[in-house]
Amino acid sequence: MLYNAKYIIPGLVVAVAAFTAPFWLNIGTPSYTYPDVAVPTGEDSKQCVEPKEWMRTQHMTLLNTWRDEAVRFDKRTYVATDGKKWDISLQNTCLGCHANKVDFCDKCHNSNNVQPYCWNCHVAPKGNE
Ligand code: HEC
Ligand code: HEC
Ligand code: HEC
Repeated sequence: MLYNAKYIIPGLVVAVAAFTAPFWLNIGTPSYTYPDVAVPTGEDSKQCVEPKEWMRTQHMTLLNTWRDEAVRFDKRTYVATDGKKWDISLQNTCLGCHANKVDFCDKCHNSNNVQPYCWNCHVAPKGNE
């Protein structure tokens, strides 16, 4: 009955491997593409709240922390690792510098298929939507 087992079993192994590949190939950190984005260049906006490399991978977490602190604990000031103080505000602080949301936030998110829903409520800078 199982006279074909020597073909069937390797076939099954390959099929199972192919079927589960999307799962095990994704183990570890996902990789993203980082297009050239428009970073602010004004005299008083040369430096982000935290170092660029950290911001690149952690800004989502930072924004969640900001939201929780503001909404739950009414904490409105963020002390950065370099000791500098910032107002906790997506609109005024982040987008105050990153006013070109389209060529900054949106450009990178679009390249990575990320669609934050924040702008349903938070106001995006005018004139570049
Ligand atoms: C005072 C101006 C300023 C503020 C406020 C600011 N940024 Fe930045 N941000 C910059 C600059 C300038 C850079 C580029 C940094 C560099 O080249 O060192 C940058 C870099 C970044 C990067 C990395 C971009 C890349 O090319 O990888 C992200 C993401 C980012 N900012 C998000 C945010 C978010 C989210 C907030 C609010 C929590 C914020 N920024 C607040 C000025 C600012
Ligand atoms: C250099 C690329 C880049 C730039 C610039 C950038 N982001 Fe992101 N952002 C990402 C990536 C990649 C993710 C997805 C990360 C993940 O899912 O782990 C993300 C996720 C987020 C999320 C979480 C969304 C979700 O659904 O989980 C928020 C909020 C966010 N970004 C806000 C901003 C804001 C605000 C700016 C502009 C001030 C900005 N980002 C600029 C790359 C970028
Ligand atoms: C359903 C509406 C809604 C959505 C969607 C939403 N927020 Fe908010 N967010 C609020 C409200 C309301 C507050 C409270 C404003 C206050 O107390 O100053 C707030 C406060 C915040 C704050 C702190 C105060 C401020 O003005 O920035 C941050 C940071 C923040 N949200 C980030 C985000 C991010 C990031 C997203 C998307 C991932 C998001 N929010 C999506 C409604 C929303």
